Amino acid sequence: MYRNLSKYTLVFLFLALSGLIFLLRNIHTVENWNCHSISALYQLQSRIQASFIQVHLPTFHPNHTFCAHLGQKPSPEDELEERYLLESIAWPGPPPRSSPSSLRQTSDPVHSLFAILPTKEGREWHVGDELEALVQMHDFQGRPKHYGGDFLLARLHSPELGAGVAGRVVDHKNGFYSALFPLLWAGTAQLEVTLVHSSEAVAVLQRLREERPDRVFFKSLFRLGFLSETTVCNMCLPPDQQPLCNYTDLYTGEPWYCYKPKMLSCDTRVNHAKGGYLKHIVTNKEALLFQSGVNIKVHIHPSGPDKVTVLPRRGTRHLHRTAPSGYYYNDTWRPLGGVTMRHFNQSSAVSQCLKNKVINMYGDSTVRQWFEYLIALVPELKEFNLHSPKNVGPFMAVDTTHNILLRYRCHGPPIRFSTVMSSELRYVSNELDGLSGGRNTVVVLSIWAHFSTFPVGVYIRRLRHIRQALVRLMDRAPGTVVVIRSANLQALDQEVSLYNSDWYSLQLDQVLRAMFKGLNVLVVDAWQMSLAHHLPHALHPPPVIVKNMIDMLLSYVCPEKKSQT
Ligand SMILES: *[C@@H]1O[C@H](CO)[C@@H](O)[C@H](O)[C@H]1NC(C)=O
Ligand SMILES: *[C@@H]1O[C@H](CO)[C@@H](O)[C@H](O)[C@H]1NC(C)=O
Ligand SMILES: *[C@@H]1O[C@H](CO)[C@@H](O)[C@H](O)[C@H]1NC(C)=O
Ligand SMILES: *[C@@H]1O[C@H](CO)[C@@H](O)[C@H](O)[C@H]1NC(C)=O
Repeated sequence: MYRNLSKYTLVFLFLALSGLIFLLRNIHTVENWNCHSISALYQLQSRIQASFIQVHLPTFHPNHTFCAHLGQKPSPEDELEERYLLESIAWPGPPPRSSPSSLRQTSDPVHSLFAILPTKEGREWHVGDELEALVQMHDFQGRPKHYGGDFLLARLHSPELGAGVAGRVVDHKNGFYSALFPLLWAGTAQLEVTLVHSSEAVAVLQRLREERPDRVFFKSLFRLGFLSETTVCNMCLPPDQQPLCNYTDLYTGEPWYCYKPKMLSCDTRVNHAKGGYLKHIVTNKEALLFQSGVNIKVHIHPSGPDKVTVLPRRGTRHLHRTAPSGYYYNDTWRPLGGVTMRHFNQSSAVSQCLKNKVINMYGDSTVRQWFEYLIALVPELKEFNLHSPKNVGPFMAVDTTHNILLRYRCHGPPIRFSTVMSSELRYVSNELDGLSGGRNTVVVLSIWAHFSTFPVGVYIRRLRHIRQALVRLMDRAPGTVVVIRSANLQALDQEVSLYNSDWYSLQLDQVLRAMFKGLNVLVVDAWQMSLAHHLPHALHPPPVIVKNMIDMLLSYVCPEKKSQT
């Protein structure tokens, strides 16, 4: 300890001395010495920083097992669950030997078609029936595809009625897909089928996820006195390149590493930030699979009518093969099962619902959006200035009249925010362990968007820790209300696709739903709420969708009082 300290002091003295020499050589006037000295030191400092950032960017060796090896070994049950989860989201890829030699042999939305079944005229549709459409994929040469794996979205909607519902897409793995919908409203219903990515593009995304978890990188600033250095950080770093600082969390075992700064010690880390996105991670040929307006989120045309007229319900009911979590009608979300939707149009209704409650929100910016929505809606809910960095937090709002406390904190690494102080970098599960909980505590979680660049095992491990903490919380404080916001769709171009495609989000979302099934938590289905809506997909959905999500949250926190009859 002491030896380290003295060695360290020596190093520091040496550096201070060099800095001074540097200064003296650069200062031409003795006047304004103070001013000059400070700015020269900062210049020196930023020069050190700049040179280190270049030096420290790792060259990553593709290695399937790399991330997995850096975490703690899971228990046999956890390993079994993980295997089951990974199998449940297995995605069919192009068969190895028929891998296409050019773009012309990949799925082309313009040449592909869908048809509502049965195609012959005269079928009557009623509320309660199931609508099926068949999609046939073709390549750019117009030839039918013979394997599956395309990522399609389907939506049934009625602009006049403000109605919309997400469809379930079934991959027949031979170039054909079914889109299934329950008919939920009377009137017109129009079908929309979208190719998000071709199967060939999904194969590229899948490879990137396993082999290039470094394609988003992070950085940390280390500082002591006038000295500062910035190094690259990530969940897994090639250990053979430079010494590492190990920030593995002691409670959860969640791994996190930075390259060790040259001069400073690991405990001088002051912040964590998004470093950037690696470029040129796909070949020119692969890049052709990700063209806006060509094969990213392009509608597929109908071969016949794309509309049906739905008549009111008749006696018999179909057994549906698909059960959406809800649908829009009159631009308002109507959940199917679980929560009875209430509308909190007035701020007074929100205050009344949240009276005497502490609401803790944890996660990425999609739940921070809920925080922002609530404080904008309820004037008495005043944000308390914690002097936190903009968009990063932590944030807190208080309504002293109604005794409401609302808090937001971002999740731990790999949070991709601008700059989070090390002291504010916390894992959600550890925060949950610090809650007393109880009937007046609401916990809201949204954790998905920053995990898409990692193998799914990383996400499973994170959710497992959060689930364990939630179970502990609900055991020690029954009545704690827990709400989880699922992933949603977003606007995609080539850039966004390679790091954050909806395909990644879909896979994570399926894992999330499976892992929290059977727990006493509400999952707000942001996925279907963004898919069923007519507004364009956005990482941060527009206010009208957020309003529906908040209504879901509040309807769950404050269910309608049952009438006495
Ligand atoms: C991947 O990384 C792990 C851990 O560093 C190592 O044991 C393994 O041999 C590597 N595999 C390949 C294929 O390079
Ligand atoms: C980092 O620390 C954790 C916890 O102390 C340990 O389990 C892990 O092996 C360490 N990682 C490396 C690469 O040394
Ligand atoms: C539709 O919503 C509007 C307000 O946005 C409301 O005034 C109207 O009554 C609603 N109509 C139905 C049929 O629910
Ligand atoms: C609240 O607004 C929704 C849609 O904007 C509407 O359908 C509903 O009738 C309104 N409810 C109340 C209580 O005002």
